[in-house]
Amino acid sequence: MASRVILFFIIFAVAARCASSLGGDTLTDVLNITAVGKQPGICSKCICKDGKVNCSSKGLTKFFPQHKWAALKNFKPTIVDMSNNSFEKITLMAELPIEVLNLSRCGIQVVELAAFRSLRNMRVLDLSHNKLSNTPELISMDVLNLAYNDLHTLIDLGVFLKLKQLTELDLSGNPLAELRVYDSGWGSTLKILRLRSCQLTDIPIYFMGHFTNLERLDLSDNLLTSIPKYLNQVEKLLYLNLNQNPIRELTISNEMHWKLWGNAPRLLKLKELHLCNMPILREIGPGALGYLESLEKLHLSFNPQLSYITATALTRPAKNGEGYEWPMVKELYMKSNALSEVNPQLLSRWDLLTAIDVSGNPFRCDCDTQWMVDVLVPIVDKLKPNASEAMVCSAPKQMRGFTMRYVHEVNRTMECVFTIKKNGAVVIKSFIGVLLAVPIMAAVILLLKCAILASKRTTNSDQ
Ligand SMILES: *[C@@H]1O[C@H](CO)[C@@H](O)[C@H](O)[C@H]1NC(C)=O
Ligand SMILES: *[C@@H]1O[C@H](CO)[C@@H](O)[C@H](O)[C@H]1NC(C)=O
Ligand SMILES: *[C@@H]1O[C@H](CO)[C@@H](O)[C@H](O)[C@H]1NC(C)=O
Ligand SMILES: *[C@@H]1O[C@H](CO)[C@@H](O)[C@H](O)[C@H]1NC(C)=O
Ligand SMILES: *[C@@H]1O[C@H](CO)[C@@H](O)[C@H](O)[C@H]1NC(C)=O
Ligand SMILES: *[C@@H]1O[C@H](CO)[C@@H](O)[C@H](O)[C@H]1NC(C)=O
Repeated sequence: MASRVILFFIIFAVAARCASSLGGDTLTDVLNITAVGKQPGICSKCICKDGKVNCSSKGLTKFFPQHKWAALKNFKPTIVDMSNNSFEKITLMAELPIEVLNLSRCGIQVVELAAFRSLRNMRVLDLSHNKLSNTPELISMDVLNLAYNDLHTLIDLGVFLKLKQLTELDLSGNPLAELRVYDSGWGSTLKILRLRSCQLTDIPIYFMGHFTNLERLDLSDNLLTSIPKYLNQVEKLLYLNLNQNPIRELTISNEMHWKLWGNAPRLLKLKELHLCNMPILREIGPGALGYLESLEKLHLSFNPQLSYITATALTRPAKNGEGYEWPMVKELYMKSNALSEVNPQLLSRWDLLTAIDVSGNPFRCDCDTQWMVDVLVPIVDKLKPNASEAMVCSAPKQMRGFTMRYVHEVNRTMECVFTIKKNGAVVIKSFIGVLLAVPIMAAVILLLKCAILASKRTTNSDQ
């Protein structure tokens, strides 16, 4: 009897061992291999369908061991979503045709050496929102997301050298503070680089030079106090996001830095610029954005202190040396700033806009802004019906609360008033014209009279 029990236990133990070596989770998994689209182990916990393994938000606390990954060989997964579990450590995976691997939001602190080495088809790896303090060993891929981890430095970017075909890299939300890259020989394939919320105070001189083919750059929510000087090294940049940086004013001096950089191009291809949510941006000076020849989309919204944009902010001297040139801006967003006017000279062709939003500014409604009522309101409303209802007068007192749409509808000619300019000087706008006009006219009349008298005298004396 006892020997029978012992024998049974031995058989059971061997069977269990055999099952686990087959990659099964339990014995039942082994007996259930035939279930359609189901595999033992991973697929008993996750959804396996159409080449996709979805383990997202399954409350997993341990990463699957290599033999369980190996058991997916016949299923041939190309997309594996492991996001939103809690793993701490990523261990070795097996040779699988995985192209997209999502390990986002898993509390990962460590990625074991060579963990991904056998995933030769990898195109996209999402390791965002984890707790990595070192860049893990990586393999060749197109898209790498390391955003919102705890990476303090890129000095160990040697690991990036293997990324010979990387086109998209997200390093946002890491406390990088300083960018230093000593390795050359990578980065030239990169098209998109995101460095949002990285506590950056500057972009060092040799950093951007790595990314000769970069098209999109996100530098939002950093500590930049001016437009980084060396951005001009990125000749092919099409999109630049500088939102949420403590830049106080954009002036020609920023632009001069670009200019002084030898004969380097000055973001001549840039099509889209974002300068929004800038807490202390007050002013955009003459020509400050003038060298962005290809600019099509300008986002300048939600800048609570931005009260002044010079009429010539977007102009550059014409190539033939006569007059000025403007970029052909198609989309202009200047919503919710502190602007008292939109200057008619800011763009050369308002009629070519395909989108505009200048709502939510404290506009002054007087003779100076008459063009807004007469010309801009119809343009704004044509592109978006009734949008000019959000263009509200906040000065002078008697105009306060009227919308520009209303003022337009009643054909109101706005009066000229005394205004206080930003330098504190009281300017008597237009009134100066009126006041001066009287003595000038008087002088002209006097001169005419004199001339007539004189000519009469000469004719008289001729006779
Ligand atoms: C086999 O897998 C199917 C599908 O997951 C499940 O419904 C069934 O209960 C399993 N059978 C056994 C014997 O575990
Ligand atoms: C995985 O499933 C979740 C819902 O459970 C879904 O939101 C997610 O998009 C799926 N992932 C993939 C890669 O299909
Ligand atoms: C993550 O998973 C938890 C449950 O485990 C769920 O409540 C939460 O909505 C998930 N979050 C995301 C972003 O999917
Ligand atoms: C990874 O999963 C998260 C949800 O947890 C999702 O937001 C993200 O877009 C996914 N990444 C990829 C590359 O699909
Ligand atoms: C625009 O406002 C007028 C009234 O001022 C209203 O009759 C019309 O329906 C509005 N059009 C749209 C598209 O909201
Ligand atoms: C404004 O002018 C237009 C055309 O000049 C005219 O049709 C309209 O009646 C005028 N509106 C008012 C309120 O005077």
